[in-house]
Amino acid sequence: MRNDDPASVREFFAARADTWDTKYPDDTPAYEAAVAELGLRAGESALDAGCGTGRALPALRAAVGASGRVIGADLTPEMLRVAARAGRDRAALLVEAEAGRLPLRARSVDAVFAAGLVHHLPDPAAGLREFARVARPGARLALFHPLGRAALAARRGYTLTPDDVRDEPNLRPLLTGSGWELSVFDDGDDRYLALAVRTAD
Ligand SMILES: C[S@@+](CC[C@H](N)C(=O)[O-])C[C@H]1O[C@@H](n2cnc3c(N)ncnc32)[C@H](O)[C@@H]1O
Repeated sequence: MRNDDPASVREFFAARADTWDTKYPDDTPAYEAAVAELGLRAGESALDAGCGTGRALPALRAAVGASGRVIGADLTPEMLRVAARAGRDRAALLVEAEAGRLPLRARSVDAVFAAGLVHHLPDPAAGLREFARVARPGARLALFHPLGRAALAARRGYTLTPDDVRDEPNLRPLLTGSGWELSVFDDGDDRYLALAVRTAD
């Protein structure tokens, strides 16, 4: 897969959409726990960027309640179709969109959740700046994966390299330069979670 080629990214995830949820059926509690760390309140707005089949969407909806707003955005229509088939279109508005060009107004969301996405972006700094554009000052960002980087690399059979955008020494300045301040970094065996807060312009 070539991250800088949307067609290649779509093709990669389209081929995996139908089996995505059945492959990792035990991840729901980890998603719920990560969403809880965003500290969302009833009536707030949340974006799930690269939502895939929408595994985080029910937890986001539960956090903001009926008066809140949840948007799930993804580049791959097949992933969104599986999300809708699973009924997750009742939890969120599903939109086909590139994470670097979101069809959302500036300062319109209180939290951005992005699981398994940032290292797939063609330009992670531009993606984080786009998240900052749509986020209100003080909004929270969660970059998440239900496995830590080392465990994920072992599962997928690749070697971690020092230029990995998810690694703290790379991520922290990238966030700072994109309108975010890193507040929590946890890259343990059983999850990856980087939490950041939108800084004032
Ligand atoms: C590893 S999957 C994670 C899906 C979901 N967040 C989850 O945790 O199950 C990455 C998702 O990001 C989407 N994606 C990749 N690059 C993207 C981009 N530039 N803009 C929007 N979505 C993208 C893919 O289509 C895929 O659904």
